[in-house]
Amino acid sequence: MRIGILGTGMVGQALAAKLAEGGYEVVVGTRDPAATLARDEPDGYGNPPFRVWHQQHPDVKLGSFADAAAHSELVVNATAGAASVDALRLAGEANLDGKVLVDIANALDFSRGMPPSLLVTNTDSLGEQIQRALPAVRVVKALNTMNALLMANPRQLADGDHTVFVCGDDPQAKALVTRLLTEGFGWRDVIDLGDLTAARATEMVLPIWLRLMGALQTPMFNLKVVR
Ligand SMILES: NC(=O)c1ccc[n+]([C@@H]2O[C@H](COP(=O)([O-])OP(=O)(O)OC[C@H]3O[C@@H](n4cnc5c(N)ncnc54)[C@H](OP(=O)(O)O)[C@@H]3O)[C@@H](O)[C@H]2O)c1
Repeated sequence: MRIGILGTGMVGQALAAKLAEGGYEVVVGTRDPAATLARDEPDGYGNPPFRVWHQQHPDVKLGSFADAAAHSELVVNATAGAASVDALRLAGEANLDGKVLVDIANALDFSRGMPPSLLVTNTDSLGEQIQRALPAVRVVKALNTMNALLMANPRQLADGDHTVFVCGDDPQAKALVTRLLTEGFGWRDVIDLGDLTAARATEMVLPIWLRLMGALQTPMFNLKVVR
């Protein structure tokens, strides 16, 4: 399967690496490929610039957001949440038409310092905003409730049976994403929370997730739903 990943940050890199390793054809999308490859500074988390990662993953192609969307059968939104709708518009409605979009983004507002707050909550969500902006896209919200390094490698934690949530309005799209999570990434506890309004809940996990990261002094943890 051809997969387009919109986003060159930690999430885009983690998913692109794992999917390429699994034999998928992956194109990562960015606003300006030349500018992204020319960047020399570490990212906001102190990771090396994208160019360094790309040199280590020559099988992953880099293109514009539109190139990545046009190339793909399945698209991943791994862009900064505050800019996701703009990034998806740059990807192009026609390039996304009818495709499954795994939305991993969180609409975080860093303008008042750390921890960030949420730009949309309670009665709406970024996932739903994306679905309204692009009605022909089949949005599945998933993977936004854990650190990038766990998304495609959940077994890194000693208890590999922690939980990932999916939600969305299209059952076939959710089934496809669930297969990718279980067969592609090794997730064992995937909870389907129903339609896309459940993205309100999974995006509102972020405040507790951020406080846990502060208390535990590591991002390498996840929620586990014990029945
Ligand atoms: N990092 C994590 O562990 C983690 C965990 C869970 C969820 N998430 C969510 O996943 C998403 C990606 O996170 P990340 O840490 O990998 O990277 P990020 O720094 O949040 O986002 C980087 C991407 O956003 C794009 N972007 C930024 N401003 C833009 C704008 N004005 N217009 C269009 N595109 C813009 C960048 O484009 P360029 O490539 O052109 O620079 C880049 O591809 C975020 O929504 C984040 O909240 C992250």
